[in-house]
Amino acid sequence: MPRSYPPVVERFPHFLHGGDYNPDQWLHMPEIIDEDFRLAKLARVNSFSVGIFSWMGLEPEEGVFTFDWLDRLLDRMAKENMVAVLATPSGARPAWMSFKYPEVLRVRPDGIRNRHNARHNHCMTSPVYREKVGIINGKLAERYHDHPALGVWHLSNEYGGECHCPLCYAAFREWLKQRYGTLDALNEAWWSAFWSHRYSDWDQIEPQDGSVHGLMLDWMRFVTDQTVDFMKHEIAALRQFDTKTPCTTNMMGTFKPLNYWRFAPELDVISWDCYPSYHDRPNQLDHAAHISLCHDLNRSMRGGQPFMLMESSPSAQNWQEINKLKSPGVLKLVSLQAIAHGADTIQYFQYRKSRGSAEKFHGAVIDHEGTEKPRVFREVAEVGQMLEKLDDVIGTTVPAETALIFDWENWWAVEEARGPRRDKQYMATCIDHYRTLWSKGVPVKVIDSEQPFDGCKLLVAPMLYMLRPGVASRIAEFVQKGGTFVATYLTGIADESDLCFLGGWPGPLREVLGIWAEEIDVLYDDEANTVVLQHGNPLGLTGEFAGRTFCDQIHAETAQVLATYGQSFYAGSPCLTVNEFGSGKAYYLATRAEQSFLSSFYDALLQQAGVSKALETELPEGVTAQVRTDGDKEFLFLLNFLASPAEVCLGDGSYVEVVSGDTVKGKAQLDGHGSMVLRKV
Ligand code: GLA
Ligand code: ZN
Repeated sequence: MPRSYPPVVERFPHFLHGGDYNPDQWLHMPEIIDEDFRLAKLARVNSFSVGIFSWMGLEPEEGVFTFDWLDRLLDRMAKENMVAVLATPSGARPAWMSFKYPEVLRVRPDGIRNRHNARHNHCMTSPVYREKVGIINGKLAERYHDHPALGVWHLSNEYGGECHCPLCYAAFREWLKQRYGTLDALNEAWWSAFWSHRYSDWDQIEPQDGSVHGLMLDWMRFVTDQTVDFMKHEIAALRQFDTKTPCTTNMMGTFKPLNYWRFAPELDVISWDCYPSYHDRPNQLDHAAHISLCHDLNRSMRGGQPFMLMESSPSAQNWQEINKLKSPGVLKLVSLQAIAHGADTIQYFQYRKSRGSAEKFHGAVIDHEGTEKPRVFREVAEVGQMLEKLDDVIGTTVPAETALIFDWENWWAVEEARGPRRDKQYMATCIDHYRTLWSKGVPVKVIDSEQPFDGCKLLVAPMLYMLRPGVASRIAEFVQKGGTFVATYLTGIADESDLCFLGGWPGPLREVLGIWAEEIDVLYDDEANTVVLQHGNPLGLTGEFAGRTFCDQIHAETAQVLATYGQSFYAGSPCLTVNEFGSGKAYYLATRAEQSFLSSFYDALLQQAGVSKALETELPEGVTAQVRTDGDKEFLFLLNFLASPAEVCLGDGSYVEVVSGDTVKGKAQLDGHGSMVLRKV
């Protein structure tokens, strides 16, 4: 059920608007800092994220601390009624530390230790690094825990990466001992009799052997767990002195190396860094859907609680191949896209553009030019003005009755598998399904397979290759009780150790899906089979559609056949089935059917399952509609991701455009890349 969540900063029930700010780069030019505060007012910036890479500014020599500049900054922010998102500085460390204690530096897979360079270059296991982080975090919390500017703790920066030092390997072996108890159990789980990989001593285990899939999977799990453990160490250091200020860390969407579901329970609020590039490119709607999927994921990670958009670029990025400018209106579009899916803050990287080094060409609120004149500054100020009118959105959430399972461990396992084709396209397949729902304005939660399916009417699990213990029985229970479940090719192949199920695919989902998947054919990228709908099928679908990439060879056991393949030696065999199970229905789509098929398929399913949408009318190409509500107030977000204008039919509803206060009825007009928030009246 929709409900209200508290604001990110309890005493500040407004959108945080601001971003990463590094006055420590400008301490020698105090007039610049004065300008920054003057311009913040004009841009309606009410928050700075500070100290993210400030370790050298805070501890220039081991054990010598210099907080004066941060004291002045926070005091000034408090005077201006601004909120500080205060970072722990562990994302980069001073050179004195790397040279005195080389163990803090990360080691590459080939065993060579990195030099002191760049950032995000530390070992998460190193006791020295943990000790130094514990000290600086403790000092920060001790000094600022009751500072009136402090709003949120920002843990480190974009945790990521792995280290192959002896300390990390020893920790990995300990982790394995905890998981398996004995070497025999480990050898069995990893099927290590294959190619004579049986381990006779724990010390022989090194995560360098891609042929042992169970090993690689456990290494990836370990990297996540060790990173979470490091983060918990950071939190504990803060909590010695500050038990109340919320903690977050800036995540990176669907960043493959880390399973963010393991981080979520340790955090008070979720935040992420989002850098879309909406240009007039052929794949931009897939890109837009992927970004929305990430937003939904971040909101779902704490049961629907709004999240923070911790970083976004007010203009271009600098790290892509081609870093195009955001055209007028796109900043508002990306900001409203985040809010539509549950963001309660809009923050940028960066507030003032750095003068030198690696990010001097990255977009910023304040350009090197330095005034309020640039277009980007003016657009930021417009977003700020808009946010001031959106206070009532704070704490509302998205009433999702559909869940999409996007599962990291499954992703690792399916992509690691050698065969049946190299590029499995797991992410792209999740986007295919998500995009179809998104283009119809269906609110979606994005969960992993271990989350509850409560409150869902429709559960979509693309390519759920790995079924960890209990997942199949929870899916069966969901269908039994009346849910609609959609599975695809490559479902139910392996268990949590990546051992294939014996007794036929889709393993423990065979009964609920009512099919046996005997073999998997794969296609070249330029090949297609056809999905031929059976005459008079209960979904009322007709016609033929392309099916690509995978073509499972399935037998309907208790399921009913809805469509068959049109070509190849398996022409006439089933490629879409439905199984009635308890009071629900379980669908199996055996091939990667084209978007137009998915569109008709989901239209039928949404109607049959009684899933509500943000708007019941059909949306134009390139537009999504999203809804946020607390069950009382309801906000409708209309977002156009194409450069051409669009007209959205609003049906019978009556709305007020929140920013202008104009009444909108019947139809809403969106410019190219246009966006608006409407309040239902
Ligand atoms: C990341 C980092 C920031 C900055 C931006 C640039 O998100 O967290 O420090 O480097 O990228 O886009
Ligand atoms: Zn290490």
